Amino acid sequence: MHKVRIRGWKEGDLGQIVDLWLELAHFVRPMDGFYQLSPDAGTRYDAYLRRVFDDHKYAVFVAESDNGLVGFAMGRVNESPSVVVPKTVGYIENIFVRPEIRNSGIGTALCNELLAWFRRWGLGHVELFYQVENQEAAAFWSKMGFKTWLAKAFRTV
Ligand SMILES: CC(C)(COP(=O)(O)OP(=O)(O)OC[C@H]1O[C@@H](n2cnc3c(N)ncnc32)[C@H](O)[C@@H]1OP(=O)(O)O)[C@@H](O)C(=O)NCCC(=O)NCCS
Repeated sequence: MHKVRIRGWKEGDLGQIVDLWLELAHFVRPMDGFYQLSPDAGTRYDAYLRRVFDDHKYAVFVAESDNGLVGFAMGRVNESPSVVVPKTVGYIENIFVRPEIRNSGIGTALCNELLAWFRRWGLGHVELFYQVENQEAAAFWSKMGFKTWLAKAFRTV
């Protein structure tokens, strides 16, 4: 059993979160027929994290082992288009757990922290995207109580 602690992010975590995000981005890349990673994606993601670090509409929870971070989940509060309600919804941007410690409840614990954070905002709705080919993610989100209700389509022109 791995000793892993779940906690909120600190500025000193940002470099390790970028590394985990790059691992996630490379994992989903073969399942994504539309977007490719830009060559400087890591640098840009690092700049993005630094930009939103102090923004109270963003939250990141990390899973930390004795050897460093082994997972993270990022969420934010999104404004809806003005013609619909609810006016604000929770959005889960990313969740990633290192392969060697998957299936031991860490993804669930990270997700639950985000859901609790959304509840503290008073939000009743939370949404996210995942690649339809990502069966691991589909099983995980279903287990966490999420229902798929939209399909996103693309073509080249
Ligand atoms: C999705 C992910 C975060 C889950 O993390 P995890 O720590 O393995 O999740 P948990 O151990 O909490 O699993 C919770 C439930 O998810 C489901 N699940 C997780 N991995 C699964 C798999 N490989 N196959 C089937 N079901 C799976 C199970 O129902 C599991 O519950 P159970 O153990 O009671 O059966 C992890 O697999 C991951 O990082 N995947 C790669 C990145 C990714 O796809 N992120 C989501 C993109 S939106």
